[in-house]
Amino acid sequence: MKGDPKRLGFSTRAIHAGQPPDPATGSVTTPIYATSTYVHDELGKHKGYEYARGENPTRHALEQCVAAIEGGLAGHAFASGMAAISALMTLVQAGEHVILSRNVYGGTFRFMTRVLSRYGVEASWVDTTDLANAERAWTARTRMLYLETPTNPMMEVSDLAGAARLAHDRGAVLAVDNTFLSPYLQRPIEHGADLVVHSTTKFLNGHSDSLGGVLISTRPADAEWFAFVQKSVGAILSPFDSFLVMRGIKTLAVRMERHEANGRAVAAHLARRPEIKSVLYPGLPGHPGHELQQRQASGFGSMITFDLGSFAAAKAFLDRLRVASLAESLGGVETLISHSASMTHASLPAEERRKLGITDGLVRISVGIEDVEDLIADLDQALAG
Ligand SMILES: Cc1ncc(COP(=O)(O)O)c(C=O)c1O
Repeated sequence: MKGDPKRLGFSTRAIHAGQPPDPATGSVTTPIYATSTYVHDELGKHKGYEYARGENPTRHALEQCVAAIEGGLAGHAFASGMAAISALMTLVQAGEHVILSRNVYGGTFRFMTRVLSRYGVEASWVDTTDLANAERAWTARTRMLYLETPTNPMMEVSDLAGAARLAHDRGAVLAVDNTFLSPYLQRPIEHGADLVVHSTTKFLNGHSDSLGGVLISTRPADAEWFAFVQKSVGAILSPFDSFLVMRGIKTLAVRMERHEANGRAVAAHLARRPEIKSVLYPGLPGHPGHELQQRQASGFGSMITFDLGSFAAAKAFLDRLRVASLAESLGGVETLISHSASMTHASLPAEERRKLGITDGLVRISVGIEDVEDLIADLDQALAG
């Protein structure tokens, strides 16, 4: 691919950005550069690569690709989504304050409350579906507003453009965890976000065979800082995982189309089942975030949360599944179902879960790209008992 990637469509960028034919051999696929170090031509002269914690061509190719598909300036890849989120939080210093959506991924909550709190960084958790709550929580020390939209697992939708204005008017930055929708369906930077983070473990890699994270920045100073953090902290993505994620991204657009179609069909079906107390999916017209998400994203994705009313009913349902697997994680080609209170959000104290509405009957499904008839039949037989 030659020329400015910004002029090209999403799939073209996903397949080509950062991945010219290998200069040494013409290999169409970016090779896995499995090396820890690089030979210098002579003292003081090298090819731009010194030591693999700082530089690796396979990782750099992935980083350019994710920056191109999110519409950012630079990408940095880390060993997990949590490693990317902790690198992001190095923008905040002791004595400063972050405002976060109230039901973000449980690991993000754990990191902020159990790790960063020890270093003097304060966090407030607010319902960001109404930005007046963020405004009320704002202090003179607030440096970052951090959103998931939709949130995990309650599917609350927040206004990206409004959040960016709020943060920028107060001299702060907006960071968005875009893992749930992927850049194919939602690109927060187009709405004013300064930073985007992903667990590549999910939709970007898409095949449940690699753990990773990426951080996309828009400001040169942040990009420079994150390269420094990669080198200084060392939680970088391996060359093999970088290759896997890049390979996954090449089919992101076609996978997301199928995830979206299956997600809509499963949500509509679940909403008709009498055993289910409520279905949380922004794609359903009655969802409070339906219209907002329609405006700021090009789809609703395939994450659905529903309430079976009690722990016993959730357990009986989960134990009967045949096609869908009971497992944490999401965004893979296969359908995964998890029990929020005891699995993904077990790190939240029971009182916090109760406040957020994460009841013991709550189940979250990541609808895969299998034949949707098989998925619906499986859910029906598990519900019928
Ligand atoms: C929305 C979201 N963000 C971040 C993470 C953390 O990613 P990882 O498990 O790759 O560290 C997860 C993991 O489930 C997630 O669901």
